[in-house]
Amino acid sequence: MSQTMRQLIRERRTIRQTSPEELSVGEIEQILETAAYAPFHSKTEPWKVYTLQGKAAHKHYIDRILECYRRINLWKNFGPERISELEDKSREYFEKVPFSLIVTSKTTGVEKADFEAVLATAAFIQNIQLAAWEVEIGITWRTTENIFDSEFQQSIGIPEDERIVGSLQLTRLKGKKPKAKRRKELSEWVFSLGI
Ligand SMILES: Cc1cc2nc3c(=O)[nH]c(=O)nc-3n(C[C@H](O)[C@H](O)[C@H](O)COP(=O)(O)O)c2cc1C
Repeated sequence: MSQTMRQLIRERRTIRQTSPEELSVGEIEQILETAAYAPFHSKTEPWKVYTLQGKAAHKHYIDRILECYRRINLWKNFGPERISELEDKSREYFEKVPFSLIVTSKTTGVEKADFEAVLATAAFIQNIQLAAWEVEIGITWRTTENIFDSEFQQSIGIPEDERIVGSLQLTRLKGKKPKAKRRKELSEWVFSLGI
């Protein structure tokens, strides 16, 4: 593995702070074209990508998310004031996100095929994260509760034979990059089967 690849993998971080600076469709398409070289165990790539660009689209998106949270009573342990604070914070965040990608994988009802499709799509998402990092674009890969809710999925127009594997919020990298969370020592997770 080249030094560049090693650095890219080690230095990529989840970026939760967002800058409203625009990202162009062209830049995103270049990242996606590269990411599509992820492995997949089927005749065709199992992923689909839905794009959201700019303030109005993100306002619609967060409105649907908050609608879902209310429906599933996600914040049932909080009082109305705290819920209102959390909703405002979520709205503020999404107001600033310039570009999102909702990444899905095809479902067929066949357990093995669906498992492989999700795995391939996860590899595809990591490729997106790395290809984006290389051009100074940071991402948060989110699997918040809404992605498991079929009504939410329908409300944003994603077909029911697809499964959302991630909602990715993209932003131009600005200033200091976060430090890596320390990873566990190899000895904690590498074992010889001893056979
Ligand atoms: C499947 C998956 C789901 C994630 N969901 C969320 C999420 O819902 N919200 C969030 O802030 N980060 C989410 N993350 C990002 C992780 O918190 C992050 O990758 C982890 O803390 C390690 O940090 P790093 O990406 O900077 O190395 C998710 C990551 C993965 C792989």
